[in-house]
Amino acid sequence: MNNTYEHFLREFNSRLDNIIKEETIIAKAMNYSLLNGGKRLRPVIYLMIKDMLGELKESDYRFAMSIEMIHTYSLIHDDLPAMDDDDFRRGKESNHKVFGEAMAILAGDALLNYAYENLFNLIKEDSAYLKSATLLANYSSHTGMIYGQSLDILYENKEASADIIEDIILNKTSKLIALPFICGFGDSITDTALKIGKVFQIKDDILDIEGDKAKLGKTIGKDEKSGKNTFVKINGLESAKNYLERVKDEIKTELEAYSDRDKYNDFIEVIEFIIDRDY
Ligand code: IPE
Ligand code: IPE
Ligand code: MG
Ligand code: MG
Ligand code: MG
Repeated sequence: MNNTYEHFLREFNSRLDNIIKEETIIAKAMNYSLLNGGKRLRPVIYLMIKDMLGELKESDYRFAMSIEMIHTYSLIHDDLPAMDDDDFRRGKESNHKVFGEAMAILAGDALLNYAYENLFNLIKEDSAYLKSATLLANYSSHTGMIYGQSLDILYENKEASADIIEDIILNKTSKLIALPFICGFGDSITDTALKIGKVFQIKDDILDIEGDKAKLGKTIGKDEKSGKNTFVKINGLESAKNYLERVKDEIKTELEAYSDRDKYNDFIEVIEFIIDRDY
């Protein structure tokens, strides 16, 4: 990826490394999934946008960390035997394979709670974060990610309409991908940002079929095996790929409104990466 992304990835990771300092088993289980690995797309996009707008502050890293903690907790729980039952995540064994199911559930719960403790402290210092934090909560809850995850599980091995699949994608993934765009640029970017989230999930589904396990850091072929209702399943692989190319152009056109900003080209490369990535 480009220098701007790499810069914020490094800066973000160095701060995240020190956020959970305890030496307890539960802290170790949290850090096991939180550190080392992960594209950090959601936090880095947030930081890149704030930087583009000339608004980046040290406290934005703390907001970005809460996004990543909530995302990481969702992955730990997503991999549990009761959910997707995945043994491999971010290039290593899933949390529950190393720490056991009970500890993995608790590590996810703790990351979720710690994300909000961090947000409360941030808002205490600067109430301007209240709006973004409230959206993060809404997009992560039974009105967002958790709702999408519940549909994803409910419709396993069942017939699902295109509308249901749309609802699964919108909630389980699009909202949390859209969040950094909305918190950065404001509400007017919501439709485009959700569209970026949708193509992100469709690409995830394509990589589940034809990705490389070592590169992707997760197991391949799980969606079909688990009877998941994906966009690729109902539309076919080729038409899903064509759809991504079409929507990529649409997204780029819609984002042109922001093209007078410094580092815009690096930002667009990140959008292209979401669709062209192989991990
Ligand atoms: C994976 O998200 C889960 C989905 C929402 C599809 P990412 O692909 O962002 O996972 P990491 O953070 O890079 O591991
Ligand atoms: C999960 O979607 C989205 C989450 C909210 C974690 P997937 O189940 O397809 O994600 P992966 O493929 O396991 O990363
Ligand atoms: Mg899942
Ligand atoms: Mg999964
Ligand atoms: Mg997947």
